Amino acid sequence: MKKVSLTGIKPTGTPHIGNYLGAIKPAIELAREYKAYYFIADYHALTTVKSGPEVQRMSYEVACTWLALGLNPDEVIFFRQSDIPELFELNWILSCSTAKGLLNRAHAYKNLVDKNVEAGRTPDDGVNAGVFNYPVLMAADILMFGSDVVPVGLDQKQHVEIARDIALAVNKDYGKKLLNLPEPLIREDVMTVPGLDGRKMSKNYGNTIPIFLPPNELRKRVMRIVTDSKQPSDPKDPENDNIFAIYRHFASPEAISTVRGEYERGGKSYAEMKQQLFELLEETFSEARVRYDELMSNKPHVTELLLQGAEKARAISRPLMNQIRKAVGAGPA
Ligand code: ADP
Ligand code: TRP
Repeated sequence: MKKVSLTGIKPTGTPHIGNYLGAIKPAIELAREYKAYYFIADYHALTTVKSGPEVQRMSYEVACTWLALGLNPDEVIFFRQSDIPELFELNWILSCSTAKGLLNRAHAYKNLVDKNVEAGRTPDDGVNAGVFNYPVLMAADILMFGSDVVPVGLDQKQHVEIARDIALAVNKDYGKKLLNLPEPLIREDVMTVPGLDGRKMSKNYGNTIPIFLPPNELRKRVMRIVTDSKQPSDPKDPENDNIFAIYRHFASPEAISTVRGEYERGGKSYAEMKQQLFELLEETFSEARVRYDELMSNKPHVTELLLQGAEKARAISRPLMNQIRKAVGAGPA
């Protein structure tokens, strides 16, 4: 039987080329080998986004991005988390086997507490219980579908380890191998793609290049990449340049070595290099952008695909949930 790969994507912003290289592209490749469950983690977004229309809009953006970039909904079970009620039932059962201390130590929560303490505020100031319980809901997502591997970025590794600890605790409490133990899958070569300012490209830093910007806006973004002040004729260090750092992920090996040579000899301006990067991004994403725009203007079609995906997912989650309900003594005997 094929092993299961599962990952969730939070709809908290417009997907950017860091997400593409670090998450979307590798996950789509993985789906050739594994039985894949990829979903929009819309309820996870509620810890930070408090606007229904925003969550809706970003959920569609994320869904259409995956579909436009090649996720095949006939092969991948692709759905919206909030369409699977069993997840929220499992969430409670898992929380009753989860040591509270385990959640106290989760990085996202701990960072907020540390910041509060540093600023002289009470530890839990402004922290909602959703942030605290976040890893349990994520464990429900992972454990519900018998995941073997969970492809994620390094920042999510601890969450997958928590899911594993919770699975062990549930299996211990109910004396059965009820839940499969997942492993994080963190690709060594999943580098951190830098943003416009050289820090990690992230929605949180406002330094992103969204995947499907219209060409004129894409060009403007690329022109905003921060460089040092070397003149066109100066030799330049490709290893210390933000334009090259993005370019290398998209260009062919030959093109990369040509640009390296041009940098090292001098004579190539940053403005020229930005134009070259813009053209390469255009070439890479323009076809997918047409599909993206079509999908974004056909929400009923995307809704239907996600609902069909949810039905397939529930064909797995319902029977497991029944088994778990029996194990914990819920409902009639
Ligand atoms: P962001 O930092 O923009 O909020 P997310 O935390 O939502 O991004 O990340 C979604 C996925 O994209 C994760 O798997 C993460 O590892 C990957 N990812 C995000 N930013 C980058 C980046 N700059 N380089 C490589 N991968 C990234
Ligand atoms: N917490 C993940 C993130 O912030 C999103 C997510 C929710 C997820 N449920 C998941 C990832 C299950 C992997 C598996 O990116």
